[in-house]
Amino acid sequence: MHYYVCLHQESTNSIPKLIQKAHANNYNVVATSINANMLPMDPQETDPTYPATVLSAVDWISKLIFQVSDVDVDSPNAKLREYSKAMLMRDVIWAEHLQTNGNIMVRLRGPNNDNLAEIINSRSKGNWFINVPITNPELASFEHRKDATESEIEEAQQVDPWNWWNELRFAIKHNARTKVVVELSDSDRPSRECVRRWLGEPIEAIIIPSSLFVLNRSNYYVLQKEWQTIVGHFISMRANIIISTKINDKSIGQYSEYIKKLISDHGDTHKLNSYENMLEIPLQPLFDNLDSYTYEIFETDPVKYKLYQEAIQQVLLDRVSEAEAKRKLTVVMVLGAGRGPLVRAVFNAAEIAKRKVRVYIIEKNPSAIRTLSNMVKTLWSKKDVHIFSKDMRDFSPPELADVLVSELLGSFGDNELSPECLDGALKLLKPDGVSIPCKSTSYINPIMSAVLHNNVSQLTSTVPAFDSGYVVLLKNIYHIDEPQALFEFTHPNRAAIIDNTRHKKLSFTAQKDCVLHGIGGYFDTVLYKNIILSINPLTHTPGMFSWFPMFFPTQPLTIKAGDTISIEFWRRVDAEKVWYEWRVCEPKESELHNPGGMGYNMRL
Ligand SMILES: C[S@@+](CC[C@H](N)C(=O)[O-])C[C@H]1O[C@@H](n2cnc3c(N)ncnc32)[C@H](O)[C@@H]1O
Repeated sequence: MHYYVCLHQESTNSIPKLIQKAHANNYNVVATSINANMLPMDPQETDPTYPATVLSAVDWISKLIFQVSDVDVDSPNAKLREYSKAMLMRDVIWAEHLQTNGNIMVRLRGPNNDNLAEIINSRSKGNWFINVPITNPELASFEHRKDATESEIEEAQQVDPWNWWNELRFAIKHNARTKVVVELSDSDRPSRECVRRWLGEPIEAIIIPSSLFVLNRSNYYVLQKEWQTIVGHFISMRANIIISTKINDKSIGQYSEYIKKLISDHGDTHKLNSYENMLEIPLQPLFDNLDSYTYEIFETDPVKYKLYQEAIQQVLLDRVSEAEAKRKLTVVMVLGAGRGPLVRAVFNAAEIAKRKVRVYIIEKNPSAIRTLSNMVKTLWSKKDVHIFSKDMRDFSPPELADVLVSELLGSFGDNELSPECLDGALKLLKPDGVSIPCKSTSYINPIMSAVLHNNVSQLTSTVPAFDSGYVVLLKNIYHIDEPQALFEFTHPNRAAIIDNTRHKKLSFTAQKDCVLHGIGGYFDTVLYKNIILSINPLTHTPGMFSWFPMFFPTQPLTIKAGDTISIEFWRRVDAEKVWYEWRVCEPKESELHNPGGMGYNMRL
């Protein structure tokens, strides 16, 4: 099913008519009880009360979500339990018959769901939509109960239905065909953190009960501000919307109209959305030669080169005074020039600063050199520019540089081996020379993302997927805690003995019960003085999209609110390669990932 706004009505005397009514009111899907016309209470009852022929196969598949009988397959009462299981199985088999695979929605009633898990595990077809109340549904009953004590209410508030889902998720072994449908309720508004945590789950949809809508002054049904914000968060995560109403509700058209407006206000329609949650193997521009397509993507970033240009301009002004401007030459080496955007930034900066520059272009990719050579002959034929097809570590320069300009940074800062390359290029720089960038720092934080976990798990049949880091546009995630600085590299590095290995242990605190699925990785870099590029979520450079974050997977681990999560990270180096190893050591010691760089390493 594509993105949908769904009308949910418990019962109907005709599914085709319900679909017609929904379509006429701008809904593209309906959710209804699988026993739509009546409830046959005998599980042996084989008459479903309507034949499969009332809809075409395509309509059954594309327009229906089946809500199965609201029975308790985990009831402590053995008789009721067996009866419920038989009812549920009858519904499931009918849904699978009508829909080939089936979209089956089942409501969680409490914390014990072992039998439900067993039934889900026993079915190889179909999508299970697990309907979970966002807050404890028992709270609603207190509105009508005068006798409820404060401690009873407090106890009910402590019940967190997310835990019901979490236990079920582990019991069904993180089954990728099972998604969550979060049901909002007018009896209790969830906290911000509670909503944020759901965003790390595999959300299929949210259910908005019609009782959440209020009439505004123009007599239109709208959501109150706070609910708008909550629903907006889910919409920006691309959750589908299910509006649940009574059968005779006359305002269903207004609800859908309002929700469509919210979708257009909150829908995240940036042009990179096809990359969301997609795992990519990090580039290795030192070992591999990048292709033209990749360079072209770099070059479309509207912010990165502008900030580089500002940094170069600032360096030129700082090194050459106004009085010296006419005669003093600044030698700039662009290390790893690609198809030339940083060379262009140097010439632009020199022109604006009115300073003289001589530019050396050093690039080890022979195909990129062809484009650069052409640019030298055409665009820059009147400039003082010299080109060398060389690895910067082996380059013997005709003179030393005042400024080294490079962009050898990966999503985790040093993961494209900028420390090793720039250390190798130190011999190109005058003793008082500067490097742009002069510092890079990586950051990590613990992350919950069931979607990323499933994406990694799907790779495990072919590769050691939990021993690799991935570049990924993080979308369906919950930041369990804020990022902290991990490894730092400064340039030029004039230490007598250069050691680019690193090791650090960082501790984080969970604010809510959640599941740790992995570690987010980010970086920032100081180009010069206060000119900084950052993909750290706390300080992200606005509008810059050159780098997506990294994700280092770990095995799922349930975390309790207040728990300390300690993560140990290593950067290791040998004669041929550099690699990271990582391990969660608190609240539970877990396996070491990527030992010896067996799953993921960067070749020197
Ligand atoms: C991330 S790309 C950046 C390219 C270009 N500066 C830009 O911003 O579009 C890094 C470039 O550095 C080059 N490179 C990496 N390591 C190098 C080395 N040791 N010597 C020379 N060039 C290198 C790669 O071939 C690639 O063209």
